Amino acid sequence: MKKTMLLKGVALAILSVSSLSLAAEYKSTPVPTEHVLSAQKEKEIIAAFPMPTGKMLADNCSACHGTLGAEFNEAMPPLAGMKPENFIKLMKDYRENAFPSIVMHDVAYVFTDAEIQAMAEYFAAQEAVEWTQPDFKGAH
Ligand code: HEC
Repeated sequence: MKKTMLLKGVALAILSVSSLSLAAEYKSTPVPTEHVLSAQKEKEIIAAFPMPTGKMLADNCSACHGTLGAEFNEAMPPLAGMKPENFIKLMKDYRENAFPSIVMHDVAYVFTDAEIQAMAEYFAAQEAVEWTQPDFKGAH
């Protein structure tokens, strides 16, 4: 019993000494600044890489909303054929967290107005076709 206590004490002492030296090391390590972009550099990068197309942006949504935004008979609302003004209003509300949502705030907050507009145009141009229910009757 006493031995265990002693061992615990030694372990604690080692731990606290090593965390002290770690803290000292962190303090003396200079904070890297190269990865922090200046506003000017950020502008240059944005200018060098044009915005992705509406389709490229919209393809990110397919995992949940269906390929081409058209997934019917599913729990997720389809995006194909959506009126641009409705889409834009909803996306901006999600982005600003105007009302509670399960996932869409986390999705929408990264998009700029121009990107939302591009996706709105893409989805509006997709035909909102209802996918036919597969007929499993007589499959065996
Ligand atoms: C991880 C799954 C997921 C992804 C990825 C996703 N969504 Fe959603 N989306 C949802 C859910 C769930 C809802 C229902 C609202 C909520 O609770 O978040 C929704 C609702 C919406 C709505 C409202 C539709 C309506 O008729 O009410 C729009 C618009 C929308 N999403 C757009 C997008 C766009 C654009 C993307 C891609 C940039 C995207 N979503 C990616 C899950 C997702």
